Amino acid sequence: MTKKVTKAIIPAAGLGTRFLPETKALPKEMLPIVDTPTIQFIVEEAKQAGIKDIIIVIGKGKRSIEDHFDSNPELEMNLEEKHKDKMLESIRKTNDLNIYFIRQSHPRGLGDAIYTARSFIGNEPFAVLLGDDVMEDKVPLTKQLMDSFEETGASTLAVKRVPHKDISKYGVIDPTHEVKPGLFNVKQFVEKPKPEDAPSDLAIIGRYLLTPEIFSILEETQPDAGGEIQLTTAIDTLNKTQRVFAHEFKGKRYDTGNKLSWLKTNVIFGLRHPEIATGLRSYIKQLGAELSAEDEANDADKKSK
Ligand code: G1P
Repeated sequence: MTKKVTKAIIPAAGLGTRFLPETKALPKEMLPIVDTPTIQFIVEEAKQAGIKDIIIVIGKGKRSIEDHFDSNPELEMNLEEKHKDKMLESIRKTNDLNIYFIRQSHPRGLGDAIYTARSFIGNEPFAVLLGDDVMEDKVPLTKQLMDSFEETGASTLAVKRVPHKDISKYGVIDPTHEVKPGLFNVKQFVEKPKPEDAPSDLAIIGRYLLTPEIFSILEETQPDAGGEIQLTTAIDTLNKTQRVFAHEFKGKRYDTGNKLSWLKTNVIFGLRHPEIATGLRSYIKQLGAELSAEDEANDADKKSK
């Protein structure tokens, strides 16, 4: 019988340089999607998959993440007295989880961040959720990986097809064949290949279900040229002794990892948000009309020159 998955690691120790100067003092994981920090979506995905124990790997300047997941009795009492039920619900969503924190003292890459949490995990299979993407599907992606693990007993990570020009931002798989629809047997896992060297367009998208044997491999994995211990490299080694499958995610992925995609995600979620949807919709329409008029005027100007 395969062991049940009850624990997850969420690495949140990265410097977030893509969002400087905002990330000088505030962690990028606390950047909001409308009114909710991105890391809250990640923790909720783990919760929806039935995970109760979560360890968040943090680093310098990340204290507000700890505060965010701490209960706040004074604020709760205040909202209770004022019968602000919806607000109360929004701050209590993860109160029933056990959330722990550990510090990665020197940022030495994703593989090292995962290795930092080894004693919390022990000898059990576990999930890893990276913070840059919000995933949406009928069944949460982490649960999809857990279901697959229950069937195969093998480590499995999530992949999605991405445009070829973007492939070098990701870990990429070299699939041999599908063992069943959407589940790939993999020959090789490669971290951030050049587009011309990429073995496929199936990118690793930041959700993993791993067996604990990964820890002894991470211990031996050498840092890359940039001084980072890559999780993808360790997974490739694991695949040589235990099978590691790739599960193709067919749901929606909202990228929050760079300025433009984060803004777009905010617009999409804003258009669904009951408080602001109507106002935002009419603003976008008005802005669209203004921008079209501006473009037309510019075109006319160019022609007349
Ligand atoms: C990390 C992983 C990479 C994966 C990506 C998904 O890279 O190393 O394999 O494809 O997350 O977001 P990072 O984005 O941290 O550079």
